[in-house]
Amino acid sequence: MSAPTPPVFDELFQAQFAQLVAWRRDVRRFRSDTVKGETIDALLDLMQLAPSVGNSQPWRWVNVESKDARDRIREDFARCNAEALASYETDRAIAYARLKLEGLQVAPVQFAVFCDQSTDQGANLGRRTMPLTLEYSVAGMLATFWLTARSVGLGVGWVSILDPVHVAKVLQVSEDWKFIAYLCVGWPQEEHIDPELVRHGWQDRTAAGRAVITR
Ligand SMILES: Cc1cc2nc3c(=O)[nH]c(=O)nc-3n(C[C@H](O)[C@H](O)[C@H](O)COP(=O)(O)O)c2cc1C
Repeated sequence: MSAPTPPVFDELFQAQFAQLVAWRRDVRRFRSDTVKGETIDALLDLMQLAPSVGNSQPWRWVNVESKDARDRIREDFARCNAEALASYETDRAIAYARLKLEGLQVAPVQFAVFCDQSTDQGANLGRRTMPLTLEYSVAGMLATFWLTARSVGLGVGWVSILDPVHVAKVLQVSEDWKFIAYLCVGWPQEEHIDPELVRHGWQDRTAAGRAVITR
């Protein structure tokens, strides 16, 4: 059987892809409209093509649907967020309190994403000296998910203001699964070219090229 012909990603595609990268946002304000199951399934199927150390594909998705689980995750966020607020001095605390840092109340689709640290897929290739590469693999996949979701018009919000131990307990997952991310997914209420944290004066973007050194 002959190998499939690789596609050509022409200049139009490249320009549109650059737009996709520029317009991907962390979304905290969602419309309540449902998202079709097949739309989500198609995204998750594509994520099996994401890179991972040793091709371990260690990501595990928990589709958080029950009201009880969602309520408990929201309560955990409220507690962790209050602790974060208390850790800042006055001016920062005032600015922090103004930020919207989750869409947990409205996002129609919510996933907790874990890294299965007990997987033998990949037979340890590439992670003997760098065991954290298993977790990097999940984070890398999530960056792909973020862009892919945006390409079909869906917004994704990554929520990390949570207690990982509590999340694992609420969702009753294996002790070998390490919590990586809680994702809110849905149709965005608004679109922005600039991040919320930049718009609200919390943290500017680093100038292009600034993080590169040469040896
Ligand atoms: C690992 C990770 C954790 C994050 N956790 C949160 C969070 O808890 N709440 C939140 O509002 N945004 C969270 N974000 C989103 C960042 O604030 C956002 O990516 C950054 O401000 C740049 O904005 P943009 O994604 O719209 O470009 C997280 C992003 C990453 C990559």
